[in-house]
Amino acid sequence: MKIFNKITDTKRFVRDAKDKGLSVGFVPTMGALHKGHLSLMEKAKAENDILAVSVFVNPLQFNNPEDLEKYPRDFEKDRKLLEETGCDLLFYPDAEEMYPEPVSTQYDFGDLEKVMEGPMRPGHFNGVAIVVKKLFEIIEPDRAYFGEKDFQQLAIIQKLVKMENLPVTIVPCPIVREGDGLAMSSRNERLTAGQRQMAPFIHQTLKEAVKKSRFMTPDEIRFFVKNRFKDQPEFKLEYFELSDDKELQPVSTWNDASGIIGFVACWLGNVRLIDNMRFI
Ligand code: PAF
Repeated sequence: MKIFNKITDTKRFVRDAKDKGLSVGFVPTMGALHKGHLSLMEKAKAENDILAVSVFVNPLQFNNPEDLEKYPRDFEKDRKLLEETGCDLLFYPDAEEMYPEPVSTQYDFGDLEKVMEGPMRPGHFNGVAIVVKKLFEIIEPDRAYFGEKDFQQLAIIQKLVKMENLPVTIVPCPIVREGDGLAMSSRNERLTAGQRQMAPFIHQTLKEAVKKSRFMTPDEIRFFVKNRFKDQPEFKLEYFELSDDKELQPVSTWNDASGIIGFVACWLGNVRLIDNMRFI
């Protein structure tokens, strides 16, 4: 596995590969790799000649400085995992390399950024879009792989690719869960042992809500989920929303869209967790 910190070295490696007619599959990450990331990498490896991964904790997408500071980082562990997965290229820049000058780009993703994570994390999606576009320019992937746990991020990136005519195919990948249902996330590492035991409650609630949706309206489901969270004082529910799977706008009946997804964001102690599940 080649490891580069510099953009020029990375570009040279990619250019050589492209000149040889090799396809590049790319998994952008912020490190603290887990089985969810590995599943993206396995898919990328199976579908492309070269597997490229980036590890960069992007300061532009953190609206909360404490969250940025506490974001788990373990490069040696990540490096070892990437070697084992058969990664060919690891791009591991620092913030100075990525942003030598202040960045002022402002994207407008319309309604897509006005719901859920958008208002909760002002500037977050703009920061994600800036780094993803820059990474795409450096790595020039044929395909890039994103997990559906961050469903809204995935929708934003799909929109970015359309808006900017970027020559890359976005490949959505299903959520990977622990045995007890908790969606895999780098943030899970920050849960205490007690919180880790409680965390599957989120997935259980979503499953229960899907079952009840056979005989309840979307508003009744919203009420049900909010009440279930109220009964668990360790959790602080930030939002539960039932939305269409394209523009992610709230639905009022099950006939409002051909695909409907339930989205949760909540705090467990000082760790923010998100999850989602398809209802239709
Ligand atoms: O999902 C993530 O880990 C990040 O938002 C991404 C896509 C790597 C951009 O920094």
